[in-house]
Amino acid sequence: MLRLSDVTHGYGPARSRTMVLDRVSLSMSSGEMWALTGSSGSGKSTLLNLIGLLDRAQEGEIELAGQRVSGLDAYEAAKVRNRLIGFVFQSFHLLPRLTAWENVALPLVHRAVGRRERRDAAMAQLERVGLADRIHHRPDELSGGQRQRVAIARALITQPRLLLADEPTGNLDSESGGRVMELLRDINLRNGVSILMVTHDENLAGTCDHRVVMRDGRIVSSVER
Ligand SMILES: Nc1ncnc2c1ncn2[C@@H]1O[C@H](COP(=O)(O)OP(=O)(O)OP(=O)(O)O)[C@@H](O)[C@H]1O
Ligand SMILES: [Mg+2]
Repeated sequence: MLRLSDVTHGYGPARSRTMVLDRVSLSMSSGEMWALTGSSGSGKSTLLNLIGLLDRAQEGEIELAGQRVSGLDAYEAAKVRNRLIGFVFQSFHLLPRLTAWENVALPLVHRAVGRRERRDAAMAQLERVGLADRIHHRPDELSGGQRQRVAIARALITQPRLLLADEPTGNLDSESGGRVMELLRDINLRNGVSILMVTHDENLAGTCDHRVVMRDGRIVSSVER
């Protein structure tokens, strides 16, 4: 599903560049759920952004679903991203003026899907995440856990093969965080979506199939459960 070979990345102009990732390699099979942990600043979000093709790795190779994606230009990268990848963030990134279903349906607007079809698809995903009774609520009318479940429904609506989640439970209390985690696991098992999740929570990391620990831009431990 996902293979990284010696991915190296830094920020800033070449002469004064600070290196953030140092020869990161990993290989994740289809259908797995991985946890990525490590102290603040160790490069976790940077790594997720490169894998999600939001940014381009300066060195090394990234392969997604058998395709080498590290050399793609921005246009081709966006096409691969839209086809294969879903994102979930710590702070949900929902649009405040849109209702739950409109937020969920948003990725389909760019695919020229008609409004009726978008709504039906969004309702199905909201049902999937247990929010069938909240479709007309706006984000500020939802709890944190519910907002995150809307964000997950939005990530799923394009039927991604790989879900990248950057501290998806980071803004939630332990109970709603636990529910979000259960939902992600269920999506992983029942929909067969591979998941790579950044978390600071040792307990949540322990429930994943594989744990990767980063320090100073390097993988210092990579353990299968
Ligand atoms: N756009 C940027 N420009 C310059 N430096 C950046 C940029 N984004 C991140 N960095 C630096 O890269 C390093 C790694 O950041 P990153 O966000 O990947 O860490 P992280 O492991 O996700 O940390 P956290 O757990 O706090 O989210 C940090 O030192 C950070 O300051
Ligand atoms: Mg981060």
